[in-house]
Amino acid sequence: MPSPTPIAVLASGRGSNLAALIDARREGRLAADIVLVAGDKAAAPALRRAEAEGIATLALDPQGYPDRRSYDLALFERVAASGAALVVLAGFMRVLDAAALAPWAGRMINLHPSLLPKYRGLHTHRRVLEAGDAEHGASVHFVTPELDGGPLIAQVRMPVLAGDSAESLAARLQPLEHRLLVACVAALVTGCIALRADGVHADDRRLDAPLQLAVDGSLQSA
Ligand code: GRF
Repeated sequence: MPSPTPIAVLASGRGSNLAALIDARREGRLAADIVLVAGDKAAAPALRRAEAEGIATLALDPQGYPDRRSYDLALFERVAASGAALVVLAGFMRVLDAAALAPWAGRMINLHPSLLPKYRGLHTHRRVLEAGDAEHGASVHFVTPELDGGPLIAQVRMPVLAGDSAESLAARLQPLEHRLLVACVAALVTGCIALRADGVHADDRRLDAPLQLAVDGSLQSA
């Protein structure tokens, strides 16, 4: 059995996706060790969750830095020092600087609550309702300087139901996000998924479309 891959998780908020990764690791479903949980908000529940698990945490306040680039460079210096080979953005609510991201190309993923390329940015649930979409979902993608615009790895889809609100959509999507993120991290650490010069590869085949999360939790070709 190969040794677990060290990963860092960046989170600004609740940390339910972090908890899903921790649970998957504990239950032997994920060959990854979370070596650092870092965030921009010292009070974030995500950091408390990590502490409770004995995981190293870092709360770095952006106000201590003159601009975004210097903050991001300091943050990723600490991430690199943790030994992380992969960075997972799980509700990290900051746009990242291109220079800080560059060393992590192909080694950093983000979870976004929409069927990208639809609805980059904030308020995705509300925007789905306003557009009258029949379907909603979440995406995991490699991070590039373009906000929520990097190469797509996988998605999970669900129907929008009559009477849905932004809150009901968020609540229904949340457990699906957890499963999607765990499946993607598992596939990345085992090398099943990788970013190459010509795009995302899954099992050495270039993807024409993002993988889809099946009901059994596996990632399937679209
Ligand atoms: C998730 O909805 C994720 O899609 C978005 O931020 C939220 C994080 O939730 N990027 P949590 O902090 O993991 O509970």
